[in-house]
Parts: sequence; C-alpha cells; structure tokens
Amino acid sequence: MKSKPLKIGNIELCSPALFAPMAGYSDLGARYLARLYGAGLTTSEMVSAKGLIFENKETKKLLEKAENETPFAAQLFASDPEVLFKAVKLLPDGIDIVDINMGCPAPKIVKNGEGSALLKDPVLAGELVAAAVAASSRPVTVKMRLGFEMGDFAADKVARAVEAAGASAVTVHGRYRDQMYAGSVDKKGIRLVRDAVNVPLIANGDVRSVKDYEKMMEETAADGVMIGRGALGNYRIFAEISGKKIDRTEREDILLQVEYLQREYPERIVVNLMKHHVTAYASGKAGVAKEIRDRVHHATNYVELFAVIDEYFKS
Ligand SMILES: Cc1cc2nc3c(=O)[nH]c(=O)nc-3n(C[C@H](O)[C@H](O)[C@H](O)COP(=O)(O)O)c2cc1C
Repeated sequence: MKSKPLKIGNIELCSPALFAPMAGYSDLGARYLARLYGAGLTTSEMVSAKGLIFENKETKKLLEKAENETPFAAQLFASDPEVLFKAVKLLPDGIDIVDINMGCPAPKIVKNGEGSALLKDPVLAGELVAAAVAASSRPVTVKMRLGFEMGDFAADKVARAVEAAGASAVTVHGRYRDQMYAGSVDKKGIRLVRDAVNVPLIANGDVRSVKDYEKMMEETAADGVMIGRGALGNYRIFAEISGKKIDRTEREDILLQVEYLQREYPERIVVNLMKHHVTAYASGKAGVAKEIRDRVHHATNYVELFAVIDEYFKS
C-alpha cells in the first residue's frame, strides 16, 4: 500500500507505520528491532518531567536510544507547564521530537492530573504544548485517547487546543480512559479528530496485521498508524507494511533482545523482561503458545530462560 510520506515538523519519516511507546515492553532491543524492520519512528517509554528535573538516574536511562533510532521521540508526562518547560530544556542531544503523554490511564498518573487526566482540560493541554514548544526547536507532538469517561468525546477539543499551541502532530488511541486497553477501538472517533485538525494525525489501537493497518488508514484517513502490542514479537509487521526485505529468524531477534537488555540490567531483571517478549513471540506458535508461556513464566535465571529459547526457537 503506497501512502504519502509522513512529516512531523521538518522531519520526514521513512514509513508511516510507527512503533508505540509501551512502558516495560518497548525497551532498547524492541525498538532496535522495530526500526530494523522499518518502523518510521520509535518513542521512549514515558518519562516523568519531574524525574528529569531531579536528575533521576532511571529516568535518564529511559531516554537512551539504540544506534538505529534516528529520528527518536522522547515521551514526557507532566501537568505543570513550568516543569515541562524545564524538563524539555534538559533533554539530551539525540532527541528529535518531544511527545507529551495525554493518554496514560494509570491511576497513579491520573491522580496527579497527568496522562489521560489532561483530556478533561484542553486549556491546560494547550499550555503544556506551548511550554514544550517554547523550550526547544524540536517538533512537539501529543499522544491522547478519545476522552476520559466512556462516551464523553473530548479528543477533538484537545487536538484543536494543542494544534493552536504549536503541536506538529497528534496520535489518537481510539479508546477512552475508562476502557484501559480492552473493548473495541472507535475508528469513527479517530476520524473525527482527523477532521478537527490540519496537522498529521496518527491513528492507534489494535492493529495486528497489514490488513488491520490498511483498514485503519482508510477508515480514519490518518497520515500514519502507530502499532503497539501487535508488533511485540512481530516486529516484521513493519517490513510487511513497507515492503522491506529482511532475512532474520525469530531466534536471532530474541537473542538480540536479550543482548540489549543485558547491556542495561542485571540477570533477574533481564529474565523478567524477557518473559513478556518470549510470550509475545510464542503467541504466533499454534499449539505450543501456552506451554511456552508457562515455561518462561517460571524461569528465574539465564539457564532456565535459554532452555526455553533453545527448545522452542531453534533457528
Ligand atoms: C504495557 C503497556 C504500556 C504502555 N505504555 C505506554 C507509554 O509509556 N506511553 C504511551 O503513550 N502509551 C503507552 N501505552 C499505550 C500504547 O502506546 C498504545 O496506545 C495502546 O497499547 C494501543 O495500541 P495497540 O493496540 O497497538 O497496543 C502502553 C500500552 C501497554 C499495553
């Protein structure tokens, strides 16, 4: 499927299919693979603007990027424009785009007025974008949901407010905060946001195949599509979309993910993070998916982790 190039500010992306930020899942290795297979953009896991200001070590680590991640977006969450302004000023070189999280449904984020809580306050959403725009010359984007409470559609107002404040693109996950990650994605809702703004619109939610991607593009008239869970253990979806030819085995991909995590974390954390990833790869293996999931779930060290990888992902 041929679509026009997606440009965010002055940055032209090589593909309109983007890899979604997913805290705890879209780590360096996952993002490296997404880019290798042709994703047009990768974004850091969400990072606290306050954490950046207080020079939290873990926060800084989340902003490290793999060698093929250019352009790369840093996603920040905040509810205070002044805090966000300071945080954007502190972003390291190598960050090309600043994305503001207005979609996270987690109670600990929402209770601070951050993430999806901003869907209830388009004025503050605009002020946050204005602060980020004032703090650097990088394009600023926003990732949001359709609204906070189910049926209380707000994304059109929020999108207009952030566009007026200088946002260069808007990503819409077609669910309400109440839905968390379940229930169906409302493509008509995303389409309404498309019609509300002139900046590029990136549609998101439940895209798991090239067919889903094409339907999402067509039904929402979006300029791009962001893929999250559907790309985990299935990074080749980006190659299928762009027509890129890459000859790699799942085993090579899994081992690469282990290697990337090993650069950053001790054995216990690597094994825990790999449980998610191996489970994701397993979901494509009919008949043994549950067995793999159960086995990897009980792994506590490298010997047990590699035993599962060696048995089920031979080549
Ligand atoms: C485990 C998990 C972590 C997530 N973390 C983030 C995050 O840090 N920032 C963000 O904007 N969205 C986050 N999301 C939302 C995804 O980016 C995406 O909007 C959502 O999963 C819907 O897309 P999908 O159906 O393609 O996965 C997360 C989703 C999941 C499942």
